Amino acid sequence: MTRNILVTSALPYANGSIHLGHMIEHIQTDIWVRFQKMQGNQCYYVCADDTHGTPIMLRAQSEGISPEALISRVHEEHLRDFRGFHIAHDCYHSTHADENRAMVRDVYLKLRDAGLIESHTIEQYYDASKSMFLPDRFIKGQCPRCGAADQYGDNCEACGATYSPTDLINPVSALSGTPPVRKASEHYFFKLADCADFLQQWTRSGTLQKEAANKLDEWFGAGLQNWDISRDAPYFGFEIPDAPGKFFYVWLDAPVGYMGSSLKLAREQGLDFDAWWNPGHDTELHHFIGKDILYFHALFWPAMLHSANYRTPTRLHVHGFVTVNGAKMSKSRGTFITAGSYLDNKLNPEWLRYYFAGKINGSMEDIDLNLSDFTARVNSDLVGKFVNIASRTAGFISKRFNGQLSGQLPDLDLLNDVQQAADSIAEHYENLDYGRAVRDIMHLADLANQYVNDRKPWDMARQEGQESALHDVCSISLNLFRLLTLYLKPILPALAEQVEYFLDIPPLHWQDAHHLLTGHTIRPYQHLMTRVEQSQIDAMLAANASQAQPTTPLQPSEKTMQKASDTPATDNNAFISIDDFTKIDLRIARIANAEHVEGAEKLIRLTLDIGEDRPRNVFAGIKSAYDPANLIGRLTVMVANLAPRKMKFGLSEGMVLAASGEGPGLFILSPDTGAQPGMRVK
Ligand code: 2FM
Ligand code: ZN
Repeated sequence: MTRNILVTSALPYANGSIHLGHMIEHIQTDIWVRFQKMQGNQCYYVCADDTHGTPIMLRAQSEGISPEALISRVHEEHLRDFRGFHIAHDCYHSTHADENRAMVRDVYLKLRDAGLIESHTIEQYYDASKSMFLPDRFIKGQCPRCGAADQYGDNCEACGATYSPTDLINPVSALSGTPPVRKASEHYFFKLADCADFLQQWTRSGTLQKEAANKLDEWFGAGLQNWDISRDAPYFGFEIPDAPGKFFYVWLDAPVGYMGSSLKLAREQGLDFDAWWNPGHDTELHHFIGKDILYFHALFWPAMLHSANYRTPTRLHVHGFVTVNGAKMSKSRGTFITAGSYLDNKLNPEWLRYYFAGKINGSMEDIDLNLSDFTARVNSDLVGKFVNIASRTAGFISKRFNGQLSGQLPDLDLLNDVQQAADSIAEHYENLDYGRAVRDIMHLADLANQYVNDRKPWDMARQEGQESALHDVCSISLNLFRLLTLYLKPILPALAEQVEYFLDIPPLHWQDAHHLLTGHTIRPYQHLMTRVEQSQIDAMLAANASQAQPTTPLQPSEKTMQKASDTPATDNNAFISIDDFTKIDLRIARIANAEHVEGAEKLIRLTLDIGEDRPRNVFAGIKSAYDPANLIGRLTVMVANLAPRKMKFGLSEGMVLAASGEGPGLFILSPDTGAQPGMRVK
């Protein structure tokens, strides 16, 4: 039965470049959509730029252009990046479009008529010199919990506390540097709490991964708050009907953008918009999102849809963040990798599609791009195994057999096995376990290579009377290659297209796994894929590092780019809690003695006085940077409650703190004058 499926990726903000965080999502979605299309399903993929809100308005101002000009420039850039990675949206629209304006109005009026909108006056910070209310991210001050300076109005990057801007100590506007004033204004709220029963039931109806459903249970436990959906002018967005000077908050019109974009697609291609969005149709609605925006998609969005008499999503597919070499993406290290920098440095987009696919398993875990593993995997799997199957045998078919494959293939278990694998590989794609699909396909590629190795066509070619056997071995090998290409096609669409050209066959569909290619004439083999070179990766990292610049609210920090501004608090793996931090007992220590350790290349033995009865013995790996004689008498900072560690040279009872960067140099920390041994560091 043909399924009718509408699929979305989250809408990227229109004030920044597409980066790896977007790519993991769009690649994941694109693979799923391509797979569905190969299955013969009616599957459409829509997305758009998320264009509204204060950051976009201010960025346009700072560039001296209109917001419309900014978002149209960024739209072109985003489209170029997505096309570069073969992301095949059926429609990539904008939230600042007539279709979306109409849908937002429609949804809002239905919510209002259902009695789910209320308004009341609230007080917020206002920048009098700029005549505007300040979003949380545009207010800075001291953290009310730990006192750290220069923290945003919604949470503290030093201790992880979340709070409201009015809790900040000595707040200033990030726009003007002036202290903001409190000002009252009327706001509109969506009564989310009224939808709690519906949401609880929806959450448990198989729409979410288990981890996501657990997260929701936490939120239900904490109680649902009504949601402020309005913002005061000046604001770049849609004005609220019957409320002059009040605009829809960007997060209200963003998900409605899924409808707006599909409306455009339906109009362009004569498709049935109602079948996608009205209840009672046999269609599916799948949203692919990152874990940072789960709250919006699992609470606000289904509640809005349901209350406005639209259908609710069939399934949310929630993924984790991208890390690079095991760490959060970092601008200064050049690992905040933009899609543009990857493409500009001539890295093949299908390398990344393949690498990510190998790691995607349908869970919310973060996905690491380890750059040396990336090179090794692509070179060994794609070039060394997969492409190799064709490159070793195609030449014989062209030179010896006029490009024609054997008219009949001998019955061979291997061919049958590879054909039989179609169903289980399909199931892995369907379940977003692309990693499993890739492993299975590469296992089959190993078997195919083994087959060629065993038959040695290059020897056959030199022997008399082996003509027909040679013909069969090469024809079988190319048939195996064709099947593996079919299985990899959702991941490697451009490579598959090259193979289709080489084999001179129409575009491969999943059902083509049922038959083999016999008596068919192919084209001469041409090189299909090059190896990854380290120099390309280095150039890409250098390009990103040179783009690194200090962040201001107009150039959102790495954190704001990963996490939507105004996102309600969710887990953030990058932070530890203040409770975790206070578990570490840091003390001022006097270095009573320091000496070389015989036989140890890197260590100095320190005797540290922290005001206890007995000094501590600590082995520190600082020999490259210090002469022990110069350390004696100095004050430093030590971790005093680290479990003692037995080393070859004796027991180490703690650790001293030292700074180091990427270059040479190691610097032990010293306190300011006046600190005494034994004082707690906090
Ligand atoms: O977090 C973000 O990047 C948002 N622009 C995603 C919006 S998704 C949808 F709701 F529109
Ligand atoms: Zn803090």
